[in-house]
Amino acid sequence: MTKIEKDIKTLKKSLKNDLDSAQNEQTIENIRIQYLGRKGSLANLMSQLKTLSIEEKRVVGPLLNTLKIHTEESIDNAHKSLIIHLQQNKFQKLKHFDVTAYKQKKLSGHIHIYTQVIQQLQDIFISMGYEIADGPEVETEYYNFEALNIPHDHPARDIQDTFWLTNPGWLLRTHTSPVQIREMKKKGAPLAIVSIGRAYRHEAVDASHGFMFQQHEGLLVGKNISVSNLLATVKAFLQKFFEKDDLDIRVRSGYFPFVEPGLEVDASCPFCKSGCSVCKKTGWVEMLGAGLVHPNVLASAGLDPEVYSGFAWGGGIERLAMIKHGINDIRLFTGNQIEFLDQF
Ligand code: PHE
Repeated sequence: MTKIEKDIKTLKKSLKNDLDSAQNEQTIENIRIQYLGRKGSLANLMSQLKTLSIEEKRVVGPLLNTLKIHTEESIDNAHKSLIIHLQQNKFQKLKHFDVTAYKQKKLSGHIHIYTQVIQQLQDIFISMGYEIADGPEVETEYYNFEALNIPHDHPARDIQDTFWLTNPGWLLRTHTSPVQIREMKKKGAPLAIVSIGRAYRHEAVDASHGFMFQQHEGLLVGKNISVSNLLATVKAFLQKFFEKDDLDIRVRSGYFPFVEPGLEVDASCPFCKSGCSVCKKTGWVEMLGAGLVHPNVLASAGLDPEVYSGFAWGGGIERLAMIKHGINDIRLFTGNQIEFLDQF
């Protein structure tokens, strides 16, 4: 056997070994380059041809040709069987894959939209120097009505349909305004408080009314407090809450027995200039009730109306959240629908 014939034999053997142990397509590609590449083993053998005599060339030439074909075929076949092998492996693994299997959804908690809005309001008012105050949801007729200048026979009691408790004189507060009286009695003047909490009204539930809802109530008492102080405060608060520096407000007269004058405050629509569904194409959105604290209210809280004056405002938390986040049904806040809550 000539040296070149020996080399051919060795090459075939090592090719077989290499291909047998190849586990992936990249290795097979490397083998192809190693044997058939421009500087590969076969090219190397071919280059030895020119050192041989014509007779030898006649024998070795065809051998090398056959070797080339053999090498190409072996590599191609190895590649094909590798692919089949890999596919079979994959199918084997997927054989027991159950497409109907139930995968538990990962539920992670987060702060409820109610709490988010309440915290935003608290942050805003604390930054304006207000103290956060709290009051009971089970109230007396005195704090809820009488002390707020709503006497027994006053028609204003008809405005708020009340949940009366079986204990005479006790009720579920119909607004957060009784906190005004409690705080003035407790702390005197000057005073700047904000109270946020639940209120209850005995009325039919629909997309914009709940029998339970939340309110924020602000009260500032001092000397020489005027409507312009009230308007500046409410405007600054609404601008911060809606993150809109150019938000404007306007007032209409409103009736609340515990303030005089009583005002309804509207804000320029936070979403449009020319009219959209939030402002019902008016450019204005109703935000809250407000006014200067009625002298009778100051007096029933033990403050001299000749010395002190103040302003108060109150409004729904849901209303603020609904406007800010485009929520169209108040019932969603307490509906415990994860899909709804997850959005915030
Ligand atoms: N308590 C009023 C209501 O529930 C709101 C309000 C508060 C109005 C303070 C004026 C001043 O509608």
